[in-house]
Amino acid sequence: MTKCLAERAEEVLRTADGRAKTALSHAHAAEWFAARKAGEALPIGQATPPDRPARPDQPALLPPREVPRRRPGTPQGRIALLHALAHIELNAVDLHWDIVARFAHVPMPQGFYDDWVKAADEESKHFNLLCDCLEGMGSHYGALPAHAGMWRAAEDTAKDLMGRLAVVPMVLEARGLDVTPGMIEIFRKAQDGAATAALEAIYAEEVGHVAYGAKWFNFLCGRENLDPKESFHALVRRYFHGALKPPFNEEKRAEAGLPPDFYWPLAEEFPPAFRPDAD
Ligand SMILES: [Fe+2]
Ligand SMILES: [Fe+2]
Repeated sequence: MTKCLAERAEEVLRTADGRAKTALSHAHAAEWFAARKAGEALPIGQATPPDRPARPDQPALLPPREVPRRRPGTPQGRIALLHALAHIELNAVDLHWDIVARFAHVPMPQGFYDDWVKAADEESKHFNLLCDCLEGMGSHYGALPAHAGMWRAAEDTAKDLMGRLAVVPMVLEARGLDVTPGMIEIFRKAQDGAATAALEAIYAEEVGHVAYGAKWFNFLCGRENLDPKESFHALVRRYFHGALKPPFNEEKRAEAGLPPDFYWPLAEEFPPAFRPDAD
């Protein structure tokens, strides 16, 4: 019997090894889209996703403050940066499959699953691209300690789909749009063509993930007759710990459907130019 989508998502979450997890993620995405194309979508079904996804023995996971910082001006620093990004991408694979499995009981249009399965497949590709870069530099994913707090946002929003969309794609992934151009510059200056190309490919696709978040957040607000901006502010304040950090990538955020009045009022500094009563 064909496995339903939620069970496939659970299977990815329970796979520990990064390369094995991303291979499975890609295989399930290919089957989902082949079935969709044939006009016979896989059933969504139900599953019991683990509280936390399976992780390999390496890297060691440390509290954020204990993860050593290295300056990106050195090859070792750039390896550390790529390693941190690979860790983020591996978590992103799990976050996208988790939204499918965790909220399988919430009735959603097929397009919702198309978007998150596609995003999960792209994150799998991103993880592998970064692993390839690390291996090309004589390192590998697992060689350095990594951030232990990555699953916090998923745990905090495990019972609230709108909260999950607000915090994961619309805050955390949107933050990626803000910081990625600076990272691309670091590798461009270091004349690392492989890492520059990998980060540019990732940057282009991440806009889509933020856009999926905004699209389905707005959909749910519309279905519940809620004001999207006010709901977003309330949910981010409830589930996200801390203020948003400018500068924001206003151009890419706009492309992803995030208007300034969504994020500026949650920023640590509220700029005078943005005040609603400003000229
Ligand atoms: Fe990614
Ligand atoms: Fe993403």
